[in-house]
Amino acid sequence: MKHFINLRDISSKSLKKIILDAKKRKNLRKNLNTLDSDKDSLLKGKLLIQMFEKSSLRTRLSFYIAIKQLNGSALTLRPDELHLSKGSESLADTAKIISTFGNAFMLRTDSDNKLLEFKKYLTIPIINGLSPSSHPTQVLSDIFTIEEIKKKNISKLQICWVGDASNNVINSLIEASVKFSFKLNIGSPKKYQPNKNLLKWAKKNSGKIKLFNNCIQAAKNSDVIFTDKVISMNDKVNKAKKLKEFKNFKVTSKVMSYAKKDAIFLHCLPRGSEVSNEVFLGKQSRVWQQALNRIYVQKSILLYCFEKLR
Ligand code: CP
Ligand code: NVA
Repeated sequence: MKHFINLRDISSKSLKKIILDAKKRKNLRKNLNTLDSDKDSLLKGKLLIQMFEKSSLRTRLSFYIAIKQLNGSALTLRPDELHLSKGSESLADTAKIISTFGNAFMLRTDSDNKLLEFKKYLTIPIINGLSPSSHPTQVLSDIFTIEEIKKKNISKLQICWVGDASNNVINSLIEASVKFSFKLNIGSPKKYQPNKNLLKWAKKNSGKIKLFNNCIQAAKNSDVIFTDKVISMNDKVNKAKKLKEFKNFKVTSKVMSYAKKDAIFLHCLPRGSEVSNEVFLGKQSRVWQQALNRIYVQKSILLYCFEKLR
């Protein structure tokens, strides 16, 4: 049994194996319907229990379809309907019941500590479906999408992030840049640069990260431009003030024109005002393919957790 909480805790070898498995499985499904099982039905009879303490559209749908395609099933719990959320049942007892009834637990939470607490008491794998400090299933899937489109190993590419560099998605992207050895340029206002400890960890582990306070400099010669909402879910900030601080960090056609000619634009979604409509809906945008690929990579993440990756 393996947990999937942060990319930095998982070996490069395992992460690459997940991507490879996802590629093979996606290819084998060309003529199948959404809910048809893969031939090998590796998770037949297994139940994925998922719980979202914050909103979700893509993660909810993609995990449901992922476990179904492995011939298992999913059940989504509403946190407000559990005794746990009212303080009338302990996390340890809740974890015991989830482990007794289910075979894996996927949690989206506003507390990194809660993930660790669940990990302590569960006897089944836990998957981080987004926390304040990371969004590992999203970013691993994005690596898959980039390699699928570029038909190259990501270590040969230059990736650029424009926008809030202090949020969960960029944290996981920084961890991925170390695990997959790719160049990562980050363009953000000084006040919203990445977490210092994470940068230290990346440096110690031969990370190839460059910081810029200008998005055009960061975008130059890049193969992929990423951004994310300036205001993340439950971001307790002065929203109007923060949005103003990012007015020069919007991905526009001008920013895209400094990247390579065949550069692509990616966004985990949902979106706000950090990207122009022209770019988001334009020729270089691959956001819908990016969203759909969550299914394929999460299937292989589930198989990794169940130690069934071949
Ligand atoms: N990108 C992503 O995780 O989307 P949801 O918040 O809709 O799950
Ligand atoms: N950074 C965003 C990602 C949403 C998928 C948030 O946490 O709201």
